[in-house]
Amino acid sequence: MEALDCILSRRSIRKYTNEPVNEKDIELLLKAASYAPSANNYQPWQFIVITKRDLLNKLSVVHPYAKMLTQAQAAIMVCGDYDIQTELGYQVVDCCAATQNILLAANSIGLGSVWLGLYPRQERINDMKKLFDLPENITPISLVAIGHHLEEKPIPERFNKEKIHRNNW
Ligand SMILES: Cc1cc2nc3c(=O)[nH]c(=O)nc-3n(C[C@H](O)[C@H](O)[C@H](O)COP(=O)(O)O)c2cc1C
Repeated sequence: MEALDCILSRRSIRKYTNEPVNEKDIELLLKAASYAPSANNYQPWQFIVITKRDLLNKLSVVHPYAKMLTQAQAAIMVCGDYDIQTELGYQVVDCCAATQNILLAANSIGLGSVWLGLYPRQERINDMKKLFDLPENITPISLVAIGHHLEEKPIPERFNKEKIHRNNW
């Protein structure tokens, strides 16, 4: 798939078949995440791959807007690492770039995915830290649900020229 087609056709997919996501595809998504740009090229991310059904179901209850995890075949949690990047702001923007790469890579290989926000909701961050027994230096930033599409979504019109400012506001 062409890069621009991939960007424009990516949508949040929340309905999945029960076909498992194979390990090679998950690795491809993680590889794409690892190629995101990062401040000083510190690459301050860590990933938790979640494939156990009971854990996905538990997450669907703990996270207030993640009911689709009961159908998802996998999820990836993207976390910032204070041992690599000491400024939380940079952990967040870098991990968000990595998260977007996962969504785009998923779309490019025909998988559906949706970004589930963790940061900056402190209660979700605390819940994830507790559930996964995360070390002090690790900040959960986002969770991505992944599966084979059970829904297709059209490309909406979003390009709004009123938001473009040239050379000054
Ligand atoms: C930071 C962030 C947090 C999000 N959190 C959730 C969430 O908790 N649950 C959910 O179903 N979708 C979540 N989304 C997906 C958005 O709802 C979705 O991207 C938006 O509605 C636009 O739709 P699209 O992704 O199909 O273009 C989140 C997206 C972002 C960027």
